[in-house]
Amino acid sequence: MNKPRILSGVQPTGNLHLGNYLGAIRSWVEQQQHYDNFFCVVDLHAITVPHNPQTLAQDTLTIAALYLACGIDLQYSTIFVQSHVSAHSELAWLLNCVTPLNWLERMIQFKEKAIKQGENVSVGLLDYPVLMAADILLYDADKVPVGEDQKQHLELTRDIVIRINDKFGREDAPVLKLPEPLIRKEGARVMSLADGTKKMSKSDESELSRINLLDPPEVIQKKIKKCKTDPQRGLWFDDPDRPECHNLLTLYTLLSNQTKEAVAKECAEMGWGQFKPLLTETAIAALEPIQAKYGEILADRGELDRIIQAGNAKASHTAHQTLTRVREALGFLPDPHQPQ
Ligand code: AMP
Ligand code: TRP
Repeated sequence: MNKPRILSGVQPTGNLHLGNYLGAIRSWVEQQQHYDNFFCVVDLHAITVPHNPQTLAQDTLTIAALYLACGIDLQYSTIFVQSHVSAHSELAWLLNCVTPLNWLERMIQFKEKAIKQGENVSVGLLDYPVLMAADILLYDADKVPVGEDQKQHLELTRDIVIRINDKFGREDAPVLKLPEPLIRKEGARVMSLADGTKKMSKSDESELSRINLLDPPEVIQKKIKKCKTDPQRGLWFDDPDRPECHNLLTLYTLLSNQTKEAVAKECAEMGWGQFKPLLTETAIAALEPIQAKYGEILADRGELDRIIQAGNAKASHTAHQTLTRVREALGFLPDPHQPQ
């Protein structure tokens, strides 16, 4: 029997942080053997806000290398670059033409990012969720493992599927597959080290707000030393008046692979002076193997290029089959030169 299909992706905007890792990539790794997985580096998404053309290519390679360093195994998973598979842009256009504008105007992430851009908001930023829907739907993905912040985009994807199938499909032959979000309970929303009410984000101006997967030990130590805490003694989870305490305990739980109960017990009597060094040591130890593997992967650039090329070819094959199906359903004149 065929395994269910997974698709997910991360934008190549700089480094990955603990939110990306604990919210998304670690779940990809943990469950990959149960699925047929496609993981893309979504470089077309990275240009929806002003980007640096000098670093985009290198950042794309960095993310692909980090996927491997975090434990993505090519036996179960395909790694590819979104812009190398032209079907993503093409399906996005087809989906654009059936997606009502007001669905996109409602997106929380668009509204948040648009405020930051002022006058310079691009059409691409508004259209971002439609491109994301195309990413998912091209692979007939059953499940999409992401952090909590992407839930609304997945609901939009499902709405688009329902609309397309309703307009252009038959009950016994839907055009597109309806995907399900896969959002983990703990770690789905890792918060900023500078403010426990804001999510950890690549776009936060302060480097001190996040721990990056490639931060060296002394940087991790400095960031945890300076992170926001409160004047209370004793540490506990789930107190709305102590968001930083909850976030740091959650990080410790996930990075030390313990249960919440065990950590609640271990840390109940601790002060910050005792907890911070413990978290520092745990974070350094958890990231050390990823960093070592990353170094090995980058040392063999030829092999990384080969992995990406093989991934692109496999992804392209699957994606173009779906694209042809959608073109047919929408009634286009068949193109004899389209790869089938
Ligand atoms: P991005 O950095 O926006 O490309 O996000 C890549 C993946 O990481 C997506 O699945 C996000 O939902 C997830 N993610 C990003 N930030 C966080 C966070 N602070 N906590 C948990 N997951 C996150
Ligand atoms: N929008 C996602 C994010 O920023 C990244 C992304 C793009 C994605 N396409 C996707 C995630 C398809 C899952 C599936 O986090």
